[in-house]
Amino acid sequence: MERYRDIIPDFDAFLETLERQQPVTIRVNRLKAMPEQVAERLKHRGFDVKPLEWNEWILQVEGEGSVAKTLEHWLGWFYIQEASAATAVIALDPKPNETILDMCASPGGKTTQMSELMGNTGLIVANDTTPKRLRALLANLSRIGVVNTIVTQWDGRNYPDLGLTFDKVLVDAPCSAEGRARENPDLKQGADINFVRSISGTQKGLLRRALELVKPGGIVVYSTCTFAPEENEAVVAYAMQKVPSELLPVDLPVPHSHGLTEWQGREFGEDMKRCVRIYPHHLDSGGMFIAKLRRLA
Ligand SMILES: C[S@@+](CC[C@H](N)C(=O)[O-])C[C@H]1O[C@@H](n2cnc3c(N)ncnc32)[C@H](O)[C@@H]1O
Repeated sequence: MERYRDIIPDFDAFLETLERQQPVTIRVNRLKAMPEQVAERLKHRGFDVKPLEWNEWILQVEGEGSVAKTLEHWLGWFYIQEASAATAVIALDPKPNETILDMCASPGGKTTQMSELMGNTGLIVANDTTPKRLRALLANLSRIGVVNTIVTQWDGRNYPDLGLTFDKVLVDAPCSAEGRARENPDLKQGADINFVRSISGTQKGLLRRALELVKPGGIVVYSTCTFAPEENEAVVAYAMQKVPSELLPVDLPVPHSHGLTEWQGREFGEDMKRCVRIYPHHLDSGGMFIAKLRRLA
């Protein structure tokens, strides 16, 4: 992670956080339960439960054993999700009755979150390429009680025109996942730069296609769980050159840093500050990059 020393604020706190175990957080499924109800049941099972200050629907859970093995989990009362990961959908702000494409959806953490916020109305097209991960997506949709979603299997870079008008598209892209280093010690030194360069090509294709598919004036949120500017600001800059679009401010009620305007001599422009970088020490969670774009007519 040394190459990020100059861009990550309070770098020592960042490194120290990577060494600490990440708290488990769950997102209460508002289609089936209320936060108090879930908290009460989990406390009864011996877990310590407290809502996050910035979002009462996300609970931090501590205790012996796995919260995944509780009846409440199998009933779909909650989804185990990193607090940082929940921010991308908050930025997208899905509304009831919208039509939304989730281009890289499996295993469904963000698809289910969108469906909950849409009250199971409108339409989500949840897409992914990987068969095993698609099975996990289908299982999660069923467990959470999602009925406004269809599932497709396409390479998002060549996603076909289905004749649907997408109000919004979420591209939660495959990435080098440096923001998950607390759970994957292999990543604590930073990702392999060759992988970073190669996945950056895929990400550019995905975001470009998302901007082509969304309706003029529609919103695309691009997110990754990595710190590499090659996978974040550089991807956004590329796609904006291909499809006329503008960056919108990402309004989040959590501590964060801003997108980079420059990296290794490459200028991205002042507007890139509108993107959000969440580091593990911001939320005592994982890392996240979020860009919010509007396609111009
Ligand atoms: C970061 S994960 C998505 C996590 C998911 N959004 C969630 O919140 O649970 C990225 C996903 O992109 C999928 N993927 C990889 N390449 C893809 C492509 N070319 N088109 C569509 N999906 C792709 C992977 O299979 C993986 O499931």
